[in-house]
Amino acid sequence: MSQSPLNLPRRPRRLRLREPLRRMLQGVKLRRSDFIVPVFVVEGENVQREVASMPGVHQMSVDVAVPWLAGRAGEGFGAYLVFGVVDRAKKDPEGSPALDENNVVCRLLRAVNEREIPMAGITDLCFCEYTSHGHCGPLTADRSTVDNDRTVDLLVKQAINHARAGAAVVAPSGMMDGAVGALRGGLDAAGFADVSILSYSVKYASAFYGPFRDAADSAPEFGDRQSYQMDPSRGVDEAIEEARLDIEQGADMVMVKPAGAYLDVIRAVRQSIRVPLVAYQVSGEYAMIEAAAAKGWIDRDRAILESLTAIKRAGADLIISYSAHALARLLPA
Ligand code: PBG
Repeated sequence: MSQSPLNLPRRPRRLRLREPLRRMLQGVKLRRSDFIVPVFVVEGENVQREVASMPGVHQMSVDVAVPWLAGRAGEGFGAYLVFGVVDRAKKDPEGSPALDENNVVCRLLRAVNEREIPMAGITDLCFCEYTSHGHCGPLTADRSTVDNDRTVDLLVKQAINHARAGAAVVAPSGMMDGAVGALRGGLDAAGFADVSILSYSVKYASAFYGPFRDAADSAPEFGDRQSYQMDPSRGVDEAIEEARLDIEQGADMVMVKPAGAYLDVIRAVRQSIRVPLVAYQVSGEYAMIEAAAAKGWIDRDRAILESLTAIKRAGADLIISYSAHALARLLPA
């Protein structure tokens, strides 16, 4: 302290000087149970293939994914989000492998439940991993966009398959209008009133999905997703409206995606809804941290924790993150 201290009644630094006080004053605390871990399941046996643009993340066959998930459950993670990756030769314009009740997603759900692994299975409902053109559903006759209402019919079938295989939650991610209401009706009629819906309500057409499209082999063959995903420059009212529509139709939880560049959207949606909000720290957000850390340009662990803390501070109740391997080390259960 200098000889003649400034006459300051408020000195915010006082509370930063002692570690125990700093720790006690943390308002936002991350725990492993805040996180949902994504899994990419592929055909075959004994397959564990690292995704080039997502170091530390692997495509796994069912026999490898099951023990991997058992490990995550043991660490205190409570839910996984499964994406199916199918051989290109099986894909067609309708995305029919999505409706096969023996596809990798259904087989994984059954195996996890048979092994009684204490994790809730959440399935991504979408057709981009299954269509030959890589769009999120069958196209309109002029092939200019995805046919909304036909896709919704198919999503209901996909959801019932997943529910039958043991999904606890289905997560429509294709941004089709009316999907949530149709899913709620379809699941209830098929006897699955207990299966929840987590809607990807607020999903932007984002450059940050790049690495995922490698991981899931789901890049659109032509065009982009701007005729169904949201425009980042539209403003938050559209986000609030999307969330409201889905909740009205029966969504149990809503999602904002991506997360890091959309903290304002997370906050605005959080303030306008009364159901849990899930934020998705997407593949590109993960890849940027990993790439910079690999170059020694940022501290990996600190960057992971800081980015995820910001997402929770903005208002996310749960977070989907690819960093489970680091979080198991860094966070309490
Ligand atoms: C669609 C889907 C996508 C992601 C999750 N579900 C890709 C897309 O919309 O192109 C992206 C997730 C990520 O980037 O981590 N099935």
